[in-house]
Amino acid sequence: MYDVKAIYEAKTIQEAIRLRVEHPEARIIAGGSDMLIKIREGKAAGTELISIYGIEEMRGISLDPDGTLRIGSLTSFKHITKHPLIKKYIPVLGEAVDQVGGPQIRSIGTIGGNTCNGVTSADSASTLMAWDAVIELQGPEGKRLVPDREFYLGPGRADIRPGEIQTAILISKESYLGYRGNYIKYGMRNAMEIATTGCSVNVCLSPDQSTVEDIRIAYGVAAPVPVRAENTEKAVRGLPANEETAETIFQLVLQDVTPRDSWRASRAMRLHLCQVMAKRAFLAAVNAAKAGVTNEADVKEDLKKEIPRDLPANVCTCGERERMASFSADMPITTAADGKQFKVINCRINGVQKTTMVDVRASLTDLLRKDYRLTSVKEGCEVGECGACAVIIDGECYNACIYLAIWADGKDIVTLEGLAGPHGEISELQKAFIDETAVQCGFCIPGFILEAKTILDSGKHYTDEELRKLLSGHLCRCTGYENILNAVRKAMVERLEAK
Ligand SMILES: Cc1cc2nc3c(=O)[nH]c(=O)nc-3n(C[C@H](O)[C@H](O)[C@H](O)COP(=O)(O)OP(=O)(O)OC[C@H]3O[C@@H](n4cnc5c(N)ncnc54)[C@H](O)[C@@H]3O)c2cc1C
Ligand code: FES
Ligand code: FES
Repeated sequence: MYDVKAIYEAKTIQEAIRLRVEHPEARIIAGGSDMLIKIREGKAAGTELISIYGIEEMRGISLDPDGTLRIGSLTSFKHITKHPLIKKYIPVLGEAVDQVGGPQIRSIGTIGGNTCNGVTSADSASTLMAWDAVIELQGPEGKRLVPDREFYLGPGRADIRPGEIQTAILISKESYLGYRGNYIKYGMRNAMEIATTGCSVNVCLSPDQSTVEDIRIAYGVAAPVPVRAENTEKAVRGLPANEETAETIFQLVLQDVTPRDSWRASRAMRLHLCQVMAKRAFLAAVNAAKAGVTNEADVKEDLKKEIPRDLPANVCTCGERERMASFSADMPITTAADGKQFKVINCRINGVQKTTMVDVRASLTDLLRKDYRLTSVKEGCEVGECGACAVIIDGECYNACIYLAIWADGKDIVTLEGLAGPHGEISELQKAFIDETAVQCGFCIPGFILEAKTILDSGKHYTDEELRKLLSGHLCRCTGYENILNAVRKAMVERLEAK
């Protein structure tokens, strides 16, 4: 249970603005992967929350008529990485946010939360700055556009005025056409690790690809807020797109950054990282630009197409959700929109429709374990780091400990218990774990198996390296990862061969 005084739920942008005005002390919660941790750690205990997670109009990616890329603030990292418009025009943003936390954090974490938290280490921060992104805010006074470079006011502080919410992140056609980029994150581990330093470089080359026509270099954790290396950029424009220029960048960037000592790294180490990362990211961006860039014709073509804003949830083709929706509409619901303590939610748990009166302070772990005795959902770290509480929601894996129970309304949830056959038979995945001796105490295993289910359900073949990354949001303290990897690979191969 979270220590929260009240939760107000908004379903539209206008509702969120009204709630912000009516409850000026309340804090916004989007995916909650920062906010719920703060509450759990006591830093924001007893707060009032305005949940904007259910505002559908703020989710997804589209092209405005003038070719501006519009990224809804509630778009999750996973959906950004997979979205066709991102892949085509600014793939580096998809690659950058694919390095956030682990897979479950990328399911819940939103790009709006990653920028509004005002944190310099945020993985999207330097990349968005290197695209000259513009932040769209809406509030009682209407819409306000703020260049990303002016959005950060100080460590943990962003330019969000009373009553406002961030609704989208915009990248104009002029900022992305003809450019390619590269992002490098340095951390002690490959997953579940905040950047020690991050660097994003975008380049636009001359038509013969020999010269750097334009360059944008941006850093995270090289100053109190994300910064651009403006002096270096100025000096490099017009230089050849080669190793020598990379060396020039290596020498010049020191004048643009002011990193500090922290427990993660010393200032001296960060300065060196800033040099090496800019050089490497520049060369990788040049190579990407040489391999091909997008142009005006691409945008014209895409404007004619109907590209889905968000990716479809990959579950429930049986019509059960529609039946649930109509049932839900007839229910006398005590909504949380008015800050009441309880709310009736309807969701499907392991294929069965359930109606539950939930305490708005409850996490999904609380709901599944206490109301439904689904004890495969473990109470581990409770701060999104171990994956022991992972469940599948609408086809994607989430950590139930950092997912509010009220958000489960209308969702399709699967826990390990849901994988059993009609007579309680264990699933192919569980058999593979037994065959490969991939279980000791078993505490982490339900989470691993559910993640593995989403992997197998994609119907794709993954390399060992890819599987390691897909499983990286789960910690095991006794079996060891090799046998777990073997089990998932075995189940994947068997499933693909049986096709
Ligand atoms: C285990 C773990 C690992 C993590 N690893 C990484 C990592 O590697 N890299 C990284 O960058 N981050 C990491 N994070 C942090 C977090 O996942 C991201 O910052 C995420 O983007 C936050 O998004 P959210 O929607 O969950 O934000 P929330 O927690 O809901 O909100 C974050 C802040 O932004 C405000 N806010 C959110 N949306 C809006 C809006 N639309 N308008 C106005 N204000 C808003 C909230 O009030 C709050 O102050 C990690 C978190 C966890 C728990
Ligand atoms: S991630 Fe939820 S208990 Fe550790
Ligand atoms: S099997 Fe014991 S923690 Fe993984």
